[in-house]
Amino acid sequence: MNNKQPMMRGSLEEIETASIDELRAVQLRRLRWSLAHTYNNVPHFKQKCDAKGVHPFELKSLEDLKHFPFTTKQDLRDTYPYGMFAVPMDEVVRIHASSGTTGKPTVVGYSQNDIDTWADVVARSIRAAGGHRGDKVHIAYGYGLFTGGLGAHYGAERLGCTVIPMSGGQTEKQVQLIQDFQPDIIMVTPSYFLNILDEMERQGVDPRELPLRTGIFGAEPWTDEMRKNIEQRAGINAVDIYGLSEVMGPGVAMECIETKDGPTIWEDHFYPEIIDPNTGEVLPDGEYGELVFTSLTKEALPIVRYRTRDLTRLLPGTARPMRRIDKITGRSDDMLIIRGVNVFPTQIEEQILKVAALAPHYEIIVTKNGNLDMVDVKVELAPGANGIDEAAVIKELQHHIKSYIGISTKITIVESGVIPRSEGKAKRVFDHRKG
Ligand code: DLL
Repeated sequence: MNNKQPMMRGSLEEIETASIDELRAVQLRRLRWSLAHTYNNVPHFKQKCDAKGVHPFELKSLEDLKHFPFTTKQDLRDTYPYGMFAVPMDEVVRIHASSGTTGKPTVVGYSQNDIDTWADVVARSIRAAGGHRGDKVHIAYGYGLFTGGLGAHYGAERLGCTVIPMSGGQTEKQVQLIQDFQPDIIMVTPSYFLNILDEMERQGVDPRELPLRTGIFGAEPWTDEMRKNIEQRAGINAVDIYGLSEVMGPGVAMECIETKDGPTIWEDHFYPEIIDPNTGEVLPDGEYGELVFTSLTKEALPIVRYRTRDLTRLLPGTARPMRRIDKITGRSDDMLIIRGVNVFPTQIEEQILKVAALAPHYEIIVTKNGNLDMVDVKVELAPGANGIDEAAVIKELQHHIKSYIGISTKITIVESGVIPRSEGKAKRVFDHRKG
């Protein structure tokens, strides 16, 4: 036990079972601190508040947060690399950065207290997934500037687990080490886990015979159909971990294993809002919109009303009093507009996985034929489905997509292994209409 160990009530931290009133009081106190800390130490934020005519001392209730300016990825880019940091650089003990496929990456920083908080929330998350001291945790999220590997690592250590810091890639070796080291828990993107399962199959390893009992999957959208598919194939529990580097990293929200009904937001550290992405107006709980987070305790990079671009809704607490998010439908950037219909890749995934003969390996290719948007879905057959009537399978999927999503598609069944496998976040959409 170290002195950073949170106050516990039974097997849970006290705050995890606090009443809503207690929780809101903690949030308000922390929010006041966080706004003042940001205002006093981040000139960019102060300018935005001054331009809007708002000041942290005017915040009397949590609802008043709606008067404060949003923060976007652009703010982090405009102040690249360290302009949003609120502590001197000699108090910043760690840097992470987004992959930044376009333009400059976004850089985030952590004080020692931030690293401790992060380890605490990830430890809490692994515990919510049924993990405990003594469990062996295989981490196949990438280590490095990406927050997945190191975020998971410190949290698993904090909980008292034995960490296997494998990182992403070297899939054959992943399988070997999972067999030899016998982890109880794996932390990995769902798409990379599919890749690992395929490799097990290739090597004649039956995942159901291994001691592995839980997968903590996140960093990309995945559907409940994918959960069922993975759980059946691997004989494990699959639970959802959510987070983003600008707000912390993995462990902003975590699904509880007893309910598997969407990630519980660790609201004592991250205050959520749902807004209408077009107007910026705050929407009531239960309505779908864009998820926005304000950090309540972060020191090095406090973030106010960060627009995640993730689309979901807030749901009441179940396994914990804190609110949940519904499974993320996708990011607003990932939404495809096909002949006027809004389509998320996850909706197509859902339909593919309803067809027993198909594997969860797919690509969505969008092109334009004159003025018409054309969607080509490439998908692999499930192992063991060889010799099946492919034309009937294609018809079935086309019919599902047409009736549930409302778009016509061309479906191509490709040989097993043709769709490139992910080693981290999967890239499944290729929209050739954009320049
Ligand atoms: O992906 C942090 C993370 C690592 C979360 C490992 C979970 C596990 P970023 O690279 O900054 O951070 O990407 C954040 O990934 O805004 C979502 O769009 C997406 N994302 C993360 N978790 C989930 C999830 C990490 N459980 C972006 N479901 C977020 C759906 C997710 N999307």
